[in-house]
Amino acid sequence: MKRYNVPEIADNVFWVGVKDWNRRMFDALIPLPQGTTYNAYLVVGKEKTALIDTVNPGFEQELAGKVDQVANLDDVDYLVMNHAEPDHASAIPFVLNVTEGAKLVTTKKGAKMAQVYSGVPEERIRIVADGDTIDLGGKTLKFIDAPWLHWPETMFTYLVESKVLFPCDFFGSHTAAGFYDDEVEELIPFAKRYYGEIMMPFNKMGKKALDKIAGLEIEIIAPSHGPIHRNPERILEAYGKWTAGETREKVILVYVTMWNSTEAMIKTMAETLLGEGIEVALYNLVNADLGDIAKDLVDSRAIVLGTPTVLGGMHPQAIYAAHLVKALRPPLKYGVVLSSYGWGGGALKQAGEILGPTKIEVVDALEVHGPPTADDEERIVEIGKQLASKIRQG
Ligand code: FEO
Repeated sequence: MKRYNVPEIADNVFWVGVKDWNRRMFDALIPLPQGTTYNAYLVVGKEKTALIDTVNPGFEQELAGKVDQVANLDDVDYLVMNHAEPDHASAIPFVLNVTEGAKLVTTKKGAKMAQVYSGVPEERIRIVADGDTIDLGGKTLKFIDAPWLHWPETMFTYLVESKVLFPCDFFGSHTAAGFYDDEVEELIPFAKRYYGEIMMPFNKMGKKALDKIAGLEIEIIAPSHGPIHRNPERILEAYGKWTAGETREKVILVYVTMWNSTEAMIKTMAETLLGEGIEVALYNLVNADLGDIAKDLVDSRAIVLGTPTVLGGMHPQAIYAAHLVKALRPPLKYGVVLSSYGWGGGALKQAGEILGPTKIEVVDALEVHGPPTADDEERIVEIGKQLASKIRQG
């Protein structure tokens, strides 16, 4: 029989998740340069056993092998579903099939999702409300309503005696590297990237959840992706800033260029901002990693979008980026649009239409004919200084 690494993260609490080292894309949207993990946990009480979340499709046997190494999968009494997305919930039918008496424990909305996504019969579901508990015998699971992190049905589970919080996606990172937070050199950059990609649109719900757990004694945060936080204060502090939308004196410049004219404008803007003491992150959309852009959107105070005019509108890559910025809802306060056209403009108008409904104040927009002239360059420097001044005001 295959032997697995099944670490005991707290007294009779075992990691039974899997590492997906080679996955490179999530939700057909998010790049995974270091793969990811689907963390699941087995909590063994004196009388009952609970499995907290499951794994992505294709890893059912590995999950079963790990559970069987420390207990018996068919003895599981409760299968806690903190979140219904298939990367954590797809093995539910497999587990419920093996464990004929086990109940799926989830929120009211989660029950509906479990029926839709996993075909779980109603009689196998136990719905829990905020503050409800289940006693496993010396181990108490307490359920905390935490919706929209990252779907509407999400909840956290807190193991009272061991002071372990299982928040599913919240506090996660997409990396297969390491096991505990202190073993991953790039923990915060990876956590920030993940936050920008997944949690940033739900900042307000994240803040509410943080306020809700503020009174709990937490020794370990055991999320469902990436390292387990045995030093929880580090990630809690980072999440405090990110959910509050704290920004730095920083600009993210994203652009696409066809004949280098837009790039020349963007570079003049970047030079100006750097000269004004403003931090800069710059991405050419043709070869940029979306996760890096998401990471820098978390704390940038302004964005500069550069796009040529193509057939009367923005370049399609820039349209994609603008829509993404709108959807991810970063805490950006200011924006500038720079554009170059060959025979007729139109990109600025379209950029205005896409970004108009956001809270971003467009400080200025400049459209030039062909490569920027010396006068155009001067104008960009002026706009850059104006933007820097706004950024310094907060
Ligand atoms: Fe990791 Fe929203 O699933």
